[in-house]
Amino acid sequence: MSDDEARQELAAVAASLRAYLEWQESTGATGVPRMPRSPSSPITRYRAPEALQHAEPQQLLAEQTTIPTPVTFARVASPAPSTTSSSTTSSSTTTSVPARSLPVIAKEVSGCVKCRLSESRTNTVFSRGSAEAKLCFVGEAPGADEDERGLPFVGRAGQLLDRMILAMGLDPEKDVYICNIIKCRPPNNRRPEPDEIATCIPYLHEQLSIVDPKAIVALGNTAVGALLGTTLGITKVRGQWKLYRGKIPVMPTYHPSYLLRPGPQQATAKKQAWDDLQAVMRELGLEPKKRRQPE
Ligand code: URA
Repeated sequence: MSDDEARQELAAVAASLRAYLEWQESTGATGVPRMPRSPSSPITRYRAPEALQHAEPQQLLAEQTTIPTPVTFARVASPAPSTTSSSTTSSSTTTSVPARSLPVIAKEVSGCVKCRLSESRTNTVFSRGSAEAKLCFVGEAPGADEDERGLPFVGRAGQLLDRMILAMGLDPEKDVYICNIIKCRPPNNRRPEPDEIATCIPYLHEQLSIVDPKAIVALGNTAVGALLGTTLGITKVRGQWKLYRGKIPVMPTYHPSYLLRPGPQQATAKKQAWDDLQAVMRELGLEPKKRRQPE
């Protein structure tokens, strides 16, 4: 890693830590945040954010980039309530401010006019899948199909994403929660502007704190940048575990839209994306699949 990359990485660590602390503060928490899971759970191997504050820069980098051996947990098996009927509250965040339910947040999003994207949208796009899922996929923003149907990843990219999820041995409707950084379609599918991301991302933070997944897959540059505060491109960060808000493992990988583009890099990128998803499966204690990567 060059000095420049190390500096950017360190800045990303600092941004992630700052976001975590700001989030703790916004929940009304005081003192040391609770660690996410029970003391006997392997996930508690992460050091507490308190400890991170006293760590040397090199230790901080190691904390972000390395996640030791698999977390084990049972595969999600039972049908879970849909996002529109669940009112689950977070079990891992502080208890000082009750979390709003997902339907309440979705309702607020449906009437949101906080930014210019509300002017051109047909529907807001909140989530699909299960709010009980242990794994979340986070994309960038709705496209035309999603805007029309009010559901994320239902166009061509979504079909590929579903095939990727199925190849992991998971059910896209029952075993994962799928959402985006931005809830309204940017005109002509342009990249969301930084102010649009800043305005919309509190909704995602709330969603993720309620769903409380054991791992997140960040799809593409926008999701990676917004979740992790890094400006490093996806080709640099993909395949490396990071932490969202200092506690949830995030695997950055290519966006399915990129994988669908015709081009000489796509065959390699697809293989790399499949490697990344297999790393996620190992992290979740899922059986490695013999079948090949999805086409
Ligand atoms: N691309 C995204 O990032 N999200 C969607 O919902 C659809 C396409």
